[in-house]
Amino acid sequence: GKGAAMVTAVAYRLATQHAERQRILDTLRLSREQLLEVKRRMGEEINRGLAKESHDQATVKMLPTYVRSTPDGTEHGDFLALDLGGTNFRVLLVRVRGGKRRSVEMHNKIYAIPQEAMQGTGEELFDHIVHCIADFLEYMGMKGASLPLGFTFSFPCHQNKLDQGILLKWTKGFKATGCEGEDVVCLLKDAIQRREEFDLDVVAVVNDTVGTMMTCGYEDPLCEVGLIVGTGTNACYMEEMQNVELVEGDEGRMCVNMEWGAFGDHGELDDFSTEFDRAVDDCATNPGKQRYEKMISGMYLGEIVRNVLLEFTAKGLLFRGKLSERLKTRGIFETKFLSQIESDRLALRQVRSILQHLGLTSSTCDDSILVKEVCSVVARRAAQLCGAGLAAVVDKIRQNRNLSELKITVGVDGTLYKLHPHFSSIMHETVRDLAPQCEVTFLQSEDGSGKGAALITAVACRIRDAGQR
Ligand code: GLC
Repeated sequence: GKGAAMVTAVAYRLATQHAERQRILDTLRLSREQLLEVKRRMGEEINRGLAKESHDQATVKMLPTYVRSTPDGTEHGDFLALDLGGTNFRVLLVRVRGGKRRSVEMHNKIYAIPQEAMQGTGEELFDHIVHCIADFLEYMGMKGASLPLGFTFSFPCHQNKLDQGILLKWTKGFKATGCEGEDVVCLLKDAIQRREEFDLDVVAVVNDTVGTMMTCGYEDPLCEVGLIVGTGTNACYMEEMQNVELVEGDEGRMCVNMEWGAFGDHGELDDFSTEFDRAVDDCATNPGKQRYEKMISGMYLGEIVRNVLLEFTAKGLLFRGKLSERLKTRGIFETKFLSQIESDRLALRQVRSILQHLGLTSSTCDDSILVKEVCSVVARRAAQLCGAGLAAVVDKIRQNRNLSELKITVGVDGTLYKLHPHFSSIMHETVRDLAPQCEVTFLQSEDGSGKGAALITAVACRIRDAGQR
């Protein structure tokens, strides 16, 4: 009778709603074939970035770092390090001991980089940095000290030597004017001079991936790759000098800062990206740039999730079809939230309370399940894409050395990698699957970028001092 017809109608509506949700989520799911294709294209871009004739057109810039050797344990001394470009800005004092009592001891202080400094003029940004250094020296009771300094500056830089870094372009929301095309060592030195209080000997400009690789390499000599999955994502590795065509000489190896976040900027990822990725890209400070990074790293994942939820709500599949002001607000889903909501111990009731905390009230139990599923699909895709890129890197190293099997360690840092409950395991599994001839060990670095800058500075000072003797 009538009742049965109504039940059928409801069941039908539920079934189509379910199908509609899955259809949208499926656009965010990648098959093994697609991941293999991502790996293949990354491999192609690696070669294009390394070769002189294709370098200018390549998206993955493969920047020479002038870091050639890893620490040998004899370096020692006190060093300052700056770390700009991650979640926090930090100033560090690093004491490196060599020989039998080999150790690295660190003191550091975190400083905020106010929005004005990030998006004002370059002079304001570097004046602020120097102000923080002065504060740190005073805090450590070392006012007026002049120590060798390593600058971890985690943005794409062109280098002709270790103590130079010409900023190619800002990433991760930075946009201070007058910096692109300039040597950040000069910008820092000028700011130090303006202050007329102390002098510093800037010995090295270091990408965070390189610092991470060096820090892990101090413990494990098989560590020849550095990986960051935090606010942004990037990797570096030891490449044969012979293949680093931008630098003269064929002997030995040099660490190359891949700047893989820019992969996809010429459409290499268009087959795999979605309307949600395009929405996130359109609203960023650097539209059209860092497309791979925008599908993987912490600064963007929450925004992808929010855009999916917006679509679900607009289609009446979530939050009873009611678009709240909160959900329309950019940046409400931080990485922290993505990690929390996917934590296995979390009951649905708690998911609901997180949503309420975000101001997304009126959410039902079904809503909570769906939000959690969206988070999980978006994070899985990120981890798999990252794994596909890494598979290309380790296979490249294996082929460089003509090996059928390669044993290698990857030093890793970054908030998303460290805090997310599933990201690392999905990423590891993807690398294992897509690069079966490589046995990859992952080593988490403790404070890699700051410590690494100090170690690189220490190595440079050791070599310089040896040359003067
Ligand atoms: C961005 C930067 C890159 C850095 C990465 C991780 O991709 O361009 O230099 O290594 O973020 O912080």
